[in-house]
Amino acid sequence: MKILVLNGPNLNMLGIREPEIYGRTTYKDLVAMIEEHCSKKGIDVTCSQSNHEGDLVDMIQQAYFDKVDGIVINPGAYTHTSVALLDALKAVQIPTVEVHISKVDEREAFRQISYVSYYACERIIGKGLDGYIEAIDYLEASV
Ligand code: DQA
Repeated sequence: MKILVLNGPNLNMLGIREPEIYGRTTYKDLVAMIEEHCSKKGIDVTCSQSNHEGDLVDMIQQAYFDKVDGIVINPGAYTHTSVALLDALKAVQIPTVEVHISKVDEREAFRQISYVSYYACERIIGKGLDGYIEAIDYLEASV
């Protein structure tokens, strides 16, 4: 099974940005944690991050040509603004789980809108970095 884990803007700053919200674990550590989990399970995983909306669209489109079975996406702030990411996911029709490290549903009103959620088959919110692992396991069990 092939899984793509996509992180959007500012998630490369994990461990540095607002640690009281996002914790002190770095993006590098997150990738190591995901890779270790997937290697134990025999899942072929690729982790990618971009601060640029169009790059994220390109990566979602590429997942179609790479025959990816499932996508885990934390679109960061693009969650709340990007119809382009939603359309890209709808175009490729790959089962997708949306992850948020923080409890977006308990934060500012603007964080309670998610365009990606119109496509995602599951949302995992406010579980910290463990949410990514839960999302991978969800895809493994359901795809
Ligand atoms: C986030 C929540 C978003 O509102 C924010 O813009 C992020 C991270 C989260 O993981 O909690 O960058 O997606």
